[in-house]
Amino acid sequence: MKYYLILNGPNLNLLGRRQPDVYGHDTLDDINRELAQMLPDGLSLDARQYNGEGGIIDALHAAGFDENCLGIVLNAGAYTHYSYAVADAIAAIEVPVVEVHISNVHAREDFRRKSVIAPVCSGSISGFGADSYKLALSALMMRNGKN
Ligand code: DQA
Repeated sequence: MKYYLILNGPNLNLLGRRQPDVYGHDTLDDINRELAQMLPDGLSLDARQYNGEGGIIDALHAAGFDENCLGIVLNAGAYTHYSYAVADAIAAIEVPVVEVHISNVHAREDFRRKSVIAPVCSGSISGFGADSYKLALSALMMRNGKN
């Protein structure tokens, strides 16, 4: 079955409890449930979260060459700002990746303004709370002509 990968990095397992003033009250399960509801029949969601860089990279490698994977929504957390290993993995794969941030990273600390993964992603969405994930999935679905 064709699917989209929703891939979350470090500390995003704490959504709902982690700095709710910045990241909101939705848990990752809440977000993934709402994303699954956006899909037409016959498409599925593979939702994963890893606190380590290796898990993210392995997941990118596995989905990134899988002909059934239609796209990847990636919130790489703090790795966004300094992981050339994650950036290299995105550059290496064939499946499009959309970068997502819940908070507006450009309105926060200086170090969050730099994304080393942005240049190798298809696009980036930041600052719309949990809806950032929906916008990213919509962008991939539009690109694939599925809505
Ligand atoms: C984040 C922003 C990052 O700077 C931060 O390290 C995160 C979450 C966001 O979704 O707003 O862990 O990616």
